[in-house]
Amino acid sequence: MQAQESYNYKVVRQFAVMTVIWGVVGMLVGVIIAAQLLWPELNFGVSWLSYGRLRPLHTNAVIFAFGGSALFATSYYVVQRTCHVRLFSEALASFTFWGWQVVIVAAAVTLPLGITTSKEYAELEWPIDVLITLVWVAYAVVFFGTLAKRRIQHIYVANWFFGAFILTIAILHLVNSAAVPVTFWKSYSVYSGAQDAMVQWWYGHNAVGFFLTAGFLGMMYYFVPKQAGRPIYSYRLSVVHFWALIFTYMWAGPHHLHYTALPDWAQSLGMVFSLILLAPSWGGMINGIMTLSGAWEKLRTDPILKFLIVSLSFYGMSTFEGPMMSIKTVNALSHYTDWTIGHVHSGALGWVGLVTMGSIYYLLPRLFGRTEMYSVRLVNTHFWIATVGIVLYIAAMWIAGVMQGLMWRAVSDDGTLTYTFVESVKATYPFYAIRLLGGLLYLAGMGIMLYNMVKTIAMAQEADTRIPVPAAAHA
Ligand code: HEM
Ligand code: HEM
Repeated sequence: MQAQESYNYKVVRQFAVMTVIWGVVGMLVGVIIAAQLLWPELNFGVSWLSYGRLRPLHTNAVIFAFGGSALFATSYYVVQRTCHVRLFSEALASFTFWGWQVVIVAAAVTLPLGITTSKEYAELEWPIDVLITLVWVAYAVVFFGTLAKRRIQHIYVANWFFGAFILTIAILHLVNSAAVPVTFWKSYSVYSGAQDAMVQWWYGHNAVGFFLTAGFLGMMYYFVPKQAGRPIYSYRLSVVHFWALIFTYMWAGPHHLHYTALPDWAQSLGMVFSLILLAPSWGGMINGIMTLSGAWEKLRTDPILKFLIVSLSFYGMSTFEGPMMSIKTVNALSHYTDWTIGHVHSGALGWVGLVTMGSIYYLLPRLFGRTEMYSVRLVNTHFWIATVGIVLYIAAMWIAGVMQGLMWRAVSDDGTLTYTFVESVKATYPFYAIRLLGGLLYLAGMGIMLYNMVKTIAMAQEADTRIPVPAAAHA
């Protein structure tokens, strides 16, 4: 008799484990640069430990290594489970895992060496960009190939979000990274001046919209209903949410370029679309949170649901704050200040981080043939430490940011500036210390997750982790 087909959990396991490991690494670098802002000598005079080189290492590690691995893991899991088929192409799926790890290691070597295109979130030089393209094409083939051979007619909404994320990132990467190589490790962008800035922030903003948002909304649409044991609040809202979100995000990039050489009309267009973006963002948040209606009591006892639901609250908060910051007069105060850093991390730590942790905690026991994590208590501890860490981080940055903005624009009666720049730096030190404490707590939470994961895997050695694909298709 032919053996029954099972799901491909191997690649999901690999990416899930690496999510936690890269999370610890990326956040550790975040803590180091947070400490360097407090004590600049911490670079020990070594160029590759300098702030300017470690900062892009941090952003690349947390976004593409931690966030990216989480997106691969969850999209591969969700597409199989909702389509009732095994992943398309074993070999390509495996290539995406190893290829992505090589990209990450190449980034971790080249960025500290100062090899960079200097385009934010697209710093990697052209040979690595070529590898990213190959991995991404393979990813698209595996994902859409699995969708194509699905046994369930209906395509569940989580897959729409994952699909939009994969397609859009492909386009963004190809357009923004277009460059002329001059040596193996140096290239120049094909764009220049204001056009370069426009393309870069069309990319940068949509990296937020599709890498840090659409893909994670895919996670939300699967793991929140699953963990709550209830259907999504409104399927109709999820369809409206999807189309409105992906249409609107595309136009909001110019809010990163207020008061620059970019034509004024383009800046205003970016502002208007950013304000409109509040509606679809909140539609998604409401759809997620309201999925819990009738089952709110589960929040009291289930730490995974706490991660997922609190992440949605932070999503709502940062997508309210973003549109406000895109208003030109508000941006005149917030731009260049730590307010932006507070906004970034309320989205990054609160939304991206917590929804990832909740989803990976859901996955790990299932991937390793267990019913629960090694310690549910530690999951709970992680949740609280992380939440306190986020609040300290973002509150400190908000206060520091508004303070900096106000100090820089204060004018004395005789028309001179009231404060020198260095006075604003000195006034920021206490807030840098609070941010460092918040970051340390958040990192400690990740350390706890790593320990819990290792123990869970150790317990799972003998478990049978082959999960058969259902024989008959269900509608
Ligand atoms: C322990 C946790 C973390 C700490 C301590 C930390 C710390 C920092 C610091 C100190 C900066 C530089 C700020 C500046 O230049 O003034 C930074 C930038 C950044 N971090 Fe983090 N971070 C952490 C986690 C994360 C995570 C999980 C993400 C994303 C998922 C993230 C995304 C970013 C981004 C996108 C920037 C650049 C912001 C900008 O250019 O406006 N961080 N982080
Ligand atoms: C409705 C949704 C959002 C809007 C309209 C929005 C708007 C903005 C604005 C106006 C800025 C400041 C630009 C500047 O002054 O330079 C900004 C920066 C940023 N936002 Fe958002 N935001 C939104 C949601 C999010 C979310 C959910 C995240 C993270 C998960 C995020 C990540 C970032 C990052 C990383 C930056 C810094 C970019 C840089 O300068 O390096 N945003 N956003």
